[in-house]
Amino acid sequence: MFISVQEALKKGKGKVNLRGWIYRERKQKDMAFLVIRDSTNIIQAVVKKDKVNKKEWEDADKLLIESSIEIEGELKEDKRAPTGYEVQVSKLNVIQFAEVFPINKDQSPELLLDNRHLWLRSRKLTAVLKIRSTIFWAIHEYFRNNNFYEFQSPIIQSTQAEGGSTLFDLNYFGKKLFLAQTWQLYAEPAIFALEKIYCIAPSFRAEKSKTSRHLTEYWHAEMEAAWASFKDIQDYGEELIKHIVKKVLEKNKDELKILERDINKLEPIIKKSFPRITYTEALKILKNKCNIKIDWGKDLRTIEEDELSKLYDTPIIVTHYPKIVKAFYMKEDDKDKKVVLGCDFIAPEGYGEIIGGSEREPDPKKIIQRLKEQGENPENYKFYLDTRRYGSVPHSGFGMGVERIVSWICGLENIKDAIPYPRTMLRYTP
Ligand code: 4AD
Ligand code: MG
Repeated sequence: MFISVQEALKKGKGKVNLRGWIYRERKQKDMAFLVIRDSTNIIQAVVKKDKVNKKEWEDADKLLIESSIEIEGELKEDKRAPTGYEVQVSKLNVIQFAEVFPINKDQSPELLLDNRHLWLRSRKLTAVLKIRSTIFWAIHEYFRNNNFYEFQSPIIQSTQAEGGSTLFDLNYFGKKLFLAQTWQLYAEPAIFALEKIYCIAPSFRAEKSKTSRHLTEYWHAEMEAAWASFKDIQDYGEELIKHIVKKVLEKNKDELKILERDINKLEPIIKKSFPRITYTEALKILKNKCNIKIDWGKDLRTIEEDELSKLYDTPIIVTHYPKIVKAFYMKEDDKDKKVVLGCDFIAPEGYGEIIGGSEREPDPKKIIQRLKEQGENPENYKFYLDTRRYGSVPHSGFGMGVERIVSWICGLENIKDAIPYPRTMLRYTP
């Protein structure tokens, strides 16, 4: 019976049957050292010429990296081996002799992206993908535990929601339609049926900027809740992030180690409350502590977000942005009509905006006016405006960029490594 490499390492001694891929190989005259990889870990195996039959020895001698094999052997502790144990091989069965693997040491990031389908097998990406899997699970778990229903919106949509400049057009039988920037406009009508809903789905942004935090296709975790106040969604967002970090620390210590992620930077997230500051306060902090002056009314750019994030060891929640920099659906603040009840969560360590959310504007006249200001035809939003006509209730919601969370938690240099097959303006294959 085959066991996993991790199970073998736990077992520590005795006879084992393993299968996997050659992670590394080194041959000597009468011995071949094979490091075998499976989804769980790596382990060293040694094939000695005099311990196997002639064919097995010839096969071992021919094996290249990424060949798939099965072995039987005796396991023993060996401090020199990469994971502390070694298998003395008694049987070797080659499933497939791999050709020369196109990836070896010190490759350029572009070559790794060209060979993404193969690079997925690297220890780094495998670790990231395991953490990503935990994060998706934790998001579902958090919302399910809080009695949210999972709800889906169409990907093919007839309007913008987050600004025309990042819309992807689609030729839909000769008509111009768009790929979803958000589920939100289709989710709001559904809260009148289900009250508390969430989803995780792809969103699309035609981002021309080549930054380390923008993808054109990303996974968007969104929530919307009837009766939820602006404060409620800030609480939900903070709890959700804490839940995600907690789960990753519970399940993925080994992967964080492979990624050389300093977990001392993640532990405070669970324990401390996230500071909540207004946009206006943020400008003052930037001026006094970072020597950056911004005119009131300008949106915070990447550099300003980064400087702010350096002052804290948890995400911060920036609230009450100027109305002119935010989306048409955000509720105007009754106490100060220049600002909206909208917020951005900014990750620590310069990972940028991880959540954007707001209370929703209940007044259809204000929505129509803001749509017009943005050059939109309110006719196209009839289905959305109907939510304000038939039993409207206060409600709020947010969206979280899952790759931004993965990138931050894993400590990645570029968001491209947070998703299996990244899509950016210049990268769309494989
Ligand atoms: O702030 P955004 O644009 O908000 C919305 O789309 C709202 N409709 C969400 C809602 O209230 N339901 O996007 C939400 C989040 C951002 O905070 C960011 O984390 C992520 O989506 N995001 C991106 N992630 C990767 N690549 C991009 N190009 C992204 N654009 C936004
Ligand atoms: Mg935003």
